[in-house]
Amino acid sequence: MDKIVVLDFGSQYSHLICRRIREFSVYAELVPYDISYEELQKLNPTGIIFSGGPSSVYSSDAPIPENKIFDMNIPLLGICYGHQLIVNKFGGKVKRANKEYGSSLLTIDSDKDLLNEIGKSMKAWMSHGDEAEQIPEGFKIIGHTENVKAAAIAFEEKSIYGIQFHPEVVHTEQGTGILKNFVLKVCGAKQDWTMEGFIDTAVERIAKIEGNVLCGVSGGIDSTVVALLIHKAIGDRLKCVFVNNGLLRLNEEKEIKDMFKDNFKVDFTSINAAEQFLGKLNGVEDPEKKRMIVGEEFIHVFTDFAKNGGPFKWLAQGTLYPDVIESGVSKGPAAVIKSHHNVGGLPDWLNLEILEPLRELYKDEVRKIAKILEVPEKLFMRHPFPGPGLSVRIIGEVTPTKLEICKIASKIVEEELMNSGLYEKVWQAYAAVGDDRAVGVVGDERRYGNIVMIRVVDSVDAMTADWTRLPHELLEKMSNRITNEIEDVTWVTYTISSKPPATIEPQ
Ligand code: XMP
Repeated sequence: MDKIVVLDFGSQYSHLICRRIREFSVYAELVPYDISYEELQKLNPTGIIFSGGPSSVYSSDAPIPENKIFDMNIPLLGICYGHQLIVNKFGGKVKRANKEYGSSLLTIDSDKDLLNEIGKSMKAWMSHGDEAEQIPEGFKIIGHTENVKAAAIAFEEKSIYGIQFHPEVVHTEQGTGILKNFVLKVCGAKQDWTMEGFIDTAVERIAKIEGNVLCGVSGGIDSTVVALLIHKAIGDRLKCVFVNNGLLRLNEEKEIKDMFKDNFKVDFTSINAAEQFLGKLNGVEDPEKKRMIVGEEFIHVFTDFAKNGGPFKWLAQGTLYPDVIESGVSKGPAAVIKSHHNVGGLPDWLNLEILEPLRELYKDEVRKIAKILEVPEKLFMRHPFPGPGLSVRIIGEVTPTKLEICKIASKIVEEELMNSGLYEKVWQAYAAVGDDRAVGVVGDERRYGNIVMIRVVDSVDAMTADWTRLPHELLEKMSNRITNEIEDVTWVTYTISSKPPATIEPQ
């Protein structure tokens, strides 16, 4: 398979370069900038891209790749810091300039290769402090802006290019076109990275493993896709386990069980450990303690299952590419199977090795695979749900009454959003409950009941979130239903705090 290797110099956009390239079906991989020449050679890249980064090529701690990497005779594209690195390395001069951040108009001076079929000018996203003052011998300027004369440079005979702007961000018009020109025209890479192809290769690799595989499933996309891929490869040597910890949404255990039973032929065990989890949470108010207890109990339940339902040789996990990069253990695409022990807090003596079939993939690629594997549409729609479940949506102690309120009220919020066609448009939606009580009147009687907080937020990645401006009529409907259908509730509130300063979950 052809492959573009992106050397990461620390730009917040480095991942985006890979994602953009993969979108046009060429495999791209992010590696640390200090990868050794030998390691890079082993990856056998079709082209190399140097990402942007916050440093200045002149600072003493500037990240500089191994010298030999510049002379590999493989097409090279430098972006922002990567561009300055190329200028500096090949004998040009980089100078400190006025910081430029935002959109600039790039005028195209030569439309061969890199800037082919881009037009006469385009908007280019800039984010830099340095710029090329003098370009190296052999290079020519192929694009400029009002402020930067060498905004795009090329040494066409050697297929080395540098651009001061970021083609990977959406604000750069034709950014994908430029990346396509480099990857397809300059590097000549084949567009052979498809999810159908990925499935075939992954299944082939997994089929070679020996022993049984244990896979925890939650009903989320990642764990479901992991299970389906492994099942395709080894059939019933895969055992899936779903744990009901008593902190799930209303009817969730049945829904997940039915989904697996009706759609997939995997060996599926559902363990109802609700009493065990809730017993341990009895009397516990501190949110972090609740999280810890839920985590510990998962390990106990899993360990028991692995001990009695085994023997198992492997534990499957839904690790994705950004997690692999973040943890700094990127080993390249061949490392679909990583082996080490004592995983996720499971005891050493279980001797489980890790199987991570999705460790090369981005989330949108996993979703594509889910579609190919015919995962039901309903599962795609589901909102993210926290691992510790409703224990983080119940403020204070988790009691049977508060749990019941939280489950039913959340169901009402979800149902009403679905009825109004808004469920899929929002990021998360639920009802939380604490210990505060407020007075209400039922018939002629005054009664104290719980206060329920509805929380509905918009977000793209959960790092920030805004409260959703729901129509008042919809809020009224939710409120009426909650107080009518749950006897213990007298008041309903709507949370209008964004993240930051609030968080999405109340605990
Ligand atoms: P916060 O509340 O931090 O939530 O704004 C951000 C996203 O993470 C989810 N979340 C969790 N997920 N374990 C999880 O697996 C947790 O302890 C946890 N706490 C929050 C939350 O639902 C939101 O999507």
